Amino acid sequence: MVPTMGALHHGHTSLFEIAHQQADVVVATIFVNPLQFNNSTDFEKYPLQMERDIQLLEEHGVHYLYNPTVETMYGSGFSTSVHIGGITDLLEGASRPGHFSGVATVVTKLFSAGQPDIAVFGQKDFQQFAVIKRMVADLDMPIQLIMAPTIRERDGLAMSSRNVRLSTSARLEAKAISQGLSAAQSLFSSGIRESQQLVEAVESVIAPTSAAIDYVKVIDSASLQDLSSVSQGSVMVVAVILDGIRLIDNHILV
Ligand code: PAF
Repeated sequence: MVPTMGALHHGHTSLFEIAHQQADVVVATIFVNPLQFNNSTDFEKYPLQMERDIQLLEEHGVHYLYNPTVETMYGSGFSTSVHIGGITDLLEGASRPGHFSGVATVVTKLFSAGQPDIAVFGQKDFQQFAVIKRMVADLDMPIQLIMAPTIRERDGLAMSSRNVRLSTSARLEAKAISQGLSAAQSLFSSGIRESQQLVEAVESVIAPTSAAIDYVKVIDSASLQDLSSVSQGSVMVVAVILDGIRLIDNHILV
């Protein structure tokens, strides 16, 4: 199963390819989940392109599409929420209260509807993957999770359905995020282990743009806690608001 919210792009189609390598039958889900948007404008402006999405699913040999309505998903009297403690209070969870409960609730329902053996999610939403992993372990869900690498535009910007909402000038500035992450990797490769120096390297690449930084951190890949000194496998995470749009990215230090 490859759960998505539609507005499919090359990032998603790479997930379908990975799913095909792992499974005989590939199911995609498209559901723009109102529960995970803490900002109603963001929900209303979420891009929809169903015809194009179906074409892409066909082109990529996806066998089934599950595309429920909001009424099917959350019928009258719906009152259940799946809450994962701890790691949902940090990073995206701190800036988007309720977001991860919305994600966990819908993913539980999607898993329950489709009963997949394997589910594929992208690395771009690193914290989301960690939350789903915690949930699957805690609730004994018999599902193998695969984290697929982030697919990037030519200039390095991580692919996201939100990118189409960026103005031309903001779109040009957005490449600073991945450039900052590359600068941090270069410092790490040259032997720097102090996280503050890596954070400052990312911030200094983003600072000249009009992006407002929400956070730049180096975190432990399992606990998602801040690290003062970094090692291979530590994760640099970034969130900015650019042109009113929240963009996130991350890089696992190698
Ligand atoms: O990553 C997404 O597109 C969504 O958060 C998901 C996992 C499909 C749940 O709505």
